[in-house]
Amino acid sequence: MLSIILAAGKGTRMKSNLPKVLHKVNGKPMLQKVIETTSKFGDILLVLGYKKGQIIENFPTYPYVVQEEQLGTGHAIKITKEYLKNTDTVLVTYGDGPLLSSETIKSMQDKFFKNNLDCLLLTCYLDEPKGYGRILKDSMNKVIDIVEEKEATEEIKKINEINVGVYLFKAKSLLNIIDKIDNNNLKGEYYLTDAIKLLNSNGYICDSLTLKDKNEMLGVNSKIDLAKVSNILLQKKLTSLMENGVTIIDPTSTYIEDDVIIGSDTIIYPNTIITGKTTIGSNCLVFSSRIEDSEIADNVKIDNSVIESSTLKNEVTIGPFAHLRKGTILNEKVHIGNFVEVKNSTLHKGVKSGHLTYLGDAIIGENTNIGAGTITCNYDGVHKNKTQIGANSFIGSNSIFVAPINVGANVLTAAGSVITKDIEDDKLAFGRARQVIINKKK
Ligand code: UD1
Ligand code: CA
Repeated sequence: MLSIILAAGKGTRMKSNLPKVLHKVNGKPMLQKVIETTSKFGDILLVLGYKKGQIIENFPTYPYVVQEEQLGTGHAIKITKEYLKNTDTVLVTYGDGPLLSSETIKSMQDKFFKNNLDCLLLTCYLDEPKGYGRILKDSMNKVIDIVEEKEATEEIKKINEINVGVYLFKAKSLLNIIDKIDNNNLKGEYYLTDAIKLLNSNGYICDSLTLKDKNEMLGVNSKIDLAKVSNILLQKKLTSLMENGVTIIDPTSTYIEDDVIIGSDTIIYPNTIITGKTTIGSNCLVFSSRIEDSEIADNVKIDNSVIESSTLKNEVTIGPFAHLRKGTILNEKVHIGNFVEVKNSTLHKGVKSGHLTYLGDAIIGENTNIGAGTITCNYDGVHKNKTQIGANSFIGSNSIFVAPINVGANVLTAAGSVITKDIEDDKLAFGRARQVIINKKK
């Protein structure tokens, strides 16, 4: 099966510089959602137009045809002719309809193949069908035509079964009538919906399937729709996490994106944002934090902190108010406390850094204690330099490490030291002026 995804439209009502289908719903571009759903059934073909370059940049591996002018959905399919010749079955859907499910496509396929149809289209009953194409059926309940709102008589406008815009066609049958679709209508557009009456009048068989979950037909035309669709996906995600044993204290104030994985008995407190490819293990506690693209093991506690592209092993504790940046690796039982920033650093098992510290481009050995106010001076204005500190060292408060620098194991640095020279194992280092006490002037 070939899935043709229509995505040439401008999306004027989005009032955005970004092509519509690149707007994200629960963390993923809409087009990606549609591709993920349809690619399970076969190949993909994109119909692109408005800002096609930007879309191709984001989805470089999919074939596409360019519709320079958006002359209508029928025209969009006409230009895919060469591809239609090389497939048996074709699914047509929209890039701005990210809620269409693979279960629905599967049910469409089942009916389509079972009844050897030439066209099966998805319909839905709406209380307010205004704006949609209306489904006309004969006495046998077979679809004979779709009439667009603009072309509809008052009688037809009363029909509340509407065209969702998702179709399965036998490619050969579609090819046989496709050239007959014209633009002799009030809008002057080539309507793909005209394919139905053309197929019927040429002896082909059309039928319809009614959508079970009306949400699936929601298309995104505005930022308001975007929020609505995004929220439906979010609620689905939160529900599935809870079904799998995650405790979410307040689902209305929790944002978790689609690809996030969380283990059972982890508790997520309100105002938490978990995005990207994040994995969190079991029995973790997350208090009002933001976590992005990170890998977090079991029994980890994160309190009011920001974590980006980092790896945290079992029993790590973070925060409150810590910032872990890209490339941070924290091994078992590491503790990062108040106002500590860590970047591109590996902290081995049991390292503690409790207060007001910056660790950048550092490697710190097991059980070393980093005193309050410690800073690695990793940047000399040109290069990022490394700080290495061995195991079981005790770093006095307000120590400054001017990198590149190597500090051994079991070292003690005096509080307030500026460390500019390497230190061997088992040494005590002072890097500060001695205190003097003199008499005050009388
Ligand atoms: C279409 C259907 C209508 C249906 C409705 C459901 C037609 C003629 N009508 O109407 O029966 O009820 O969808 O939402 O098909 N597109 C292109 N190239 C074009 C025109 C459109 O790629 O030349 C894309 C758009 O980007 C959009 C989709 O096709 O994603 C639908 O186009 P739109 O103009 O919104 O169709 P409707 O008028 O809503
Ligand atoms: Ca429209």
